[in-house]
Amino acid sequence: MIEPRPAQLQSHRLSRRGDRLVGNPPMPAYIETHFDLVDDGWDPETNLDGYVSMCIAENKLVWDLLEPKMAASRNIPARVTGYDAMVGAWSFREALARFLGDRLLGRPVDPEHVITLAGAGSVLETLFYAIADPGDGILVPTPSYAGFWMDIETRDGLHIVPVSTPSETGFRLTVELLDDAIDHSEIPVRALLFTSPDNPQGRVYDAGEVEAVIDWGERRGIHVVIDEIYGLSVYGDRPFVSGASRRPSLGELTHIVWAFSKDIAASGLRCGVLVSENQGVLAAIDGVAYWSSVSGDTQYLLEQLISDEEWMSGFIAENQRRLGNTYRQVTTVLDSFGIRHLPAGAGFFFLCDLREFMDQPSWESEATLWRRILDEAKVNLTPGAACRISEPGFMRLCFASEPIEAVLAGVERVGRVLHDTTL
Ligand SMILES: Cc1ncc(COP(=O)(O)O)c(C=O)c1O
Repeated sequence: MIEPRPAQLQSHRLSRRGDRLVGNPPMPAYIETHFDLVDDGWDPETNLDGYVSMCIAENKLVWDLLEPKMAASRNIPARVTGYDAMVGAWSFREALARFLGDRLLGRPVDPEHVITLAGAGSVLETLFYAIADPGDGILVPTPSYAGFWMDIETRDGLHIVPVSTPSETGFRLTVELLDDAIDHSEIPVRALLFTSPDNPQGRVYDAGEVEAVIDWGERRGIHVVIDEIYGLSVYGDRPFVSGASRRPSLGELTHIVWAFSKDIAASGLRCGVLVSENQGVLAAIDGVAYWSSVSGDTQYLLEQLISDEEWMSGFIAENQRRLGNTYRQVTTVLDSFGIRHLPAGAGFFFLCDLREFMDQPSWESEATLWRRILDEAKVNLTPGAACRISEPGFMRLCFASEPIEAVLAGVERVGRVLHDTTL
């Protein structure tokens, strides 16, 4: 039967899929709220009561380090204004293989196995396009990064099969949970998307845990995509361990995703990276890369950055130091208000446990609490529902997308609202 089109959309003369995008935008609602409020943002001189964003995983703590380096890398050669390989210029891929081999992956990689597209989101969307068919399932452990639903479902037509981890175990992922999800799935499962360090928890997985996930994928014969986008933003006691370091070769089924968006604090430059040894995957992506290539200018700029090894070592170390400092300052304020939070060691966020501040354990109460914090404290946290957390009452707090003064002021306001004291 032909689905009737909603009357308000008929006038746009769109396709059904165009109608779907307009009628049901894939962007999570809390992000739209953020863009509605940014113009009223906190300012130390003009708007001390202004809006504080704590819902976007961005790192604005290191612009003072990046700015002079980027300004000094602007001697653009003519070649970057012309067409080149759509998956990245060869010199950029060589530089990336060196950089990632030394700093992230824990072993050398062949530049042939390293390709780039416009952001990790594009890499994930295109990779899943190549390894799964519409209607297939992709396992995603939850709590999860909210954007995976856009990356996997919106255009690829795949379905996320959540692997729900319980709060009582601190949201621990186990192979039993993975087995259970695949065994009970009503649709064929083609892949697991595993984020390490993860988002929204900011948790670093140790070698045994990473290895267990790869072993499991090999045993079950499905692709394992490891999103290591926060691999260099580690500030806790536990060091980062890449999936690539656990095997001399990734084989056909394991793929690593990274991007400049987080670890190099350059989300707006839109450059994501795929490391894969599967020749079929690489060839299929090459066929569609033209629609989401990284601009030649951006590739050139980023190549300059990663090729200066001394500068890069200093940048990564200082970034980690600042992330750790900010995390400690923010959690100290939360502790002073008795607001519970889960321990984190990587990324720009962690989960707050706000269950005790809800009238009842329901998604409605979580939505009401989120709205109250937004209206009264003017702080936007990422609601747990958007991260598909199995239980209501947890919210992600991002601590690096605003100056530290703004974040601390925002956390104070949240504390006062939650304890109902005068602002
Ligand atoms: C785990 C994870 N993967 C992918 C992305 C998307 O990154 P990009 O901006 O490079 O598309 C994000 C962004 O928040 C993320 O947290």
